[in-house]
Amino acid sequence: MPLKILVGTQWGDEGKGRIVDLLSAQSDIVARYNGGDNAGHTVTVAEHTFKLHLIPSGIIHPHTLGILGNGLVINPKSLIAEIEMLRESGVKVSPERLKISFGAHLITPGHISIDRAREATLGKGLIGTTGRGIGPAYTDKVSRKGLRMVDMLDLPLFEEKMRLHVQKINYDLSIYYQTAPLPEDKIVHEYLEYARQLREYIVDTGAMLDIALHEDKLVLAEGAQGMLLDIDHGSYPFVTSSNVTATGVFSGLGIGICAVDNVIGATKAFQSRVGAGPFPTELDGEMATRLRGTGAQPWDEFGTTTGRPRRVGWLDGVLLRYARRINGLTDLVLTKMDVLSGLPEIKVCTAYQDKNGESYAIPPMGISSLDQFQPVYESLMGWTEDITQVRDWDDLPENARAYIRFVEYTSGVRVMMASVGPERSQVVEVPA
Ligand code: GDP
Ligand code: IMO
Ligand code: MG
Repeated sequence: MPLKILVGTQWGDEGKGRIVDLLSAQSDIVARYNGGDNAGHTVTVAEHTFKLHLIPSGIIHPHTLGILGNGLVINPKSLIAEIEMLRESGVKVSPERLKISFGAHLITPGHISIDRAREATLGKGLIGTTGRGIGPAYTDKVSRKGLRMVDMLDLPLFEEKMRLHVQKINYDLSIYYQTAPLPEDKIVHEYLEYARQLREYIVDTGAMLDIALHEDKLVLAEGAQGMLLDIDHGSYPFVTSSNVTATGVFSGLGIGICAVDNVIGATKAFQSRVGAGPFPTELDGEMATRLRGTGAQPWDEFGTTTGRPRRVGWLDGVLLRYARRINGLTDLVLTKMDVLSGLPEIKVCTAYQDKNGESYAIPPMGISSLDQFQPVYESLMGWTEDITQVRDWDDLPENARAYIRFVEYTSGVRVMMASVGPERSQVVEVPA
């Protein structure tokens, strides 16, 4: 069955959105399976730049159907704003083109307030969340008191559930966090209005996907975040609250384990992270500024969702091997190769060393304790040429080709494509 999975192999912002846009040309359905509007996926098509948080990046191609699976947590206000933004840019979004799973959970202002209040109490242990209410919405899901899209289909019952939800949140806010309560009536009425606006989009997306897969329709699963932020396999506790990894696709879309064509890892040619948590190859000073940029370019390393400067560092081959194992990666797409142009030397971490000098190809107890390790680097020669206009493998500078081959060697995964700029056409296919 023709399912392709696209997952970020790092801490997010690998360029998933622009790769999904490319792969969507050959897909019938593009489906998000995890996360919420903590994601920020940027797609540049000619002079248009779209910043998508919830709606699958495939929607920009007029022939695709977009799905928001049951694994998501959805802020209806953000979703409606995004539908409007797309419509204003000439992208048609309607209940015919976008389907929302009845099982997806809702994010409310209550979740957002708790997210922010909780972060404020954490001091040095701060996660640095996006403040979008993601953690508290998933907490409600797991503790079996969440609000789901299906609840929006029965307005009187939904009103009752919303009231109870806001009352419970207000209790926590005032008693535990000692902050001001939220206006119950205002929120309930707002959510009843969202329910009216979204009801036609709510269906059984798992059943739809099952039929589509049996009809050999091409389905692309679009990951949000990066796998190092996965709740089970990421750098816990500095993670998000969902299953980002490829296995999250099946539970997050409500389909059985089926033949997967490819599991494609989106990998940035260097590495970035927003928020707190370990980052062995992190750079500071001049080299960090060089990789991050100053914000003058739209692709500089500043958060799409929060605008925060991203922490940056060299590509970490140890973590890339880990990503291969956990996701069963079959291919990589290496993004932002153009940003490395002009560097005399490019480093890639190939192993870790602990304080006793012992080397590790993979951290012995998962990746939560990455702070204990020093990266061991391999140094590669850079290239000076501007590669943004290159479209053929043979036209890439020899050292750029060598860098790509080295990434394949160190990760154990073939690179199918490299990107040399943010625009749709700025890609180079990599021969096997
Ligand atoms: P995502 O969250 O994984 O979809 O990634 P983001 O959209 O948050 O961040 C990636 C940024 O890099 C966006 O601004 C993209 O337009 C940009 N980008 C993607 N690929 C390339 C590339 O090959 N070169 C350059 N210069 N920018 C790129
Ligand atoms: P895309 O899809 C980068 C990070 C936050 C924080 C941690 C937990 O654009 O790659 P959360 O709000 O999810 O509870 O925050 O996860 N984070 C991301 N970092 N890209 C993202 O999405 C992210 N989504 C969440 O910065 O460290
Ligand atoms: Mg992003």
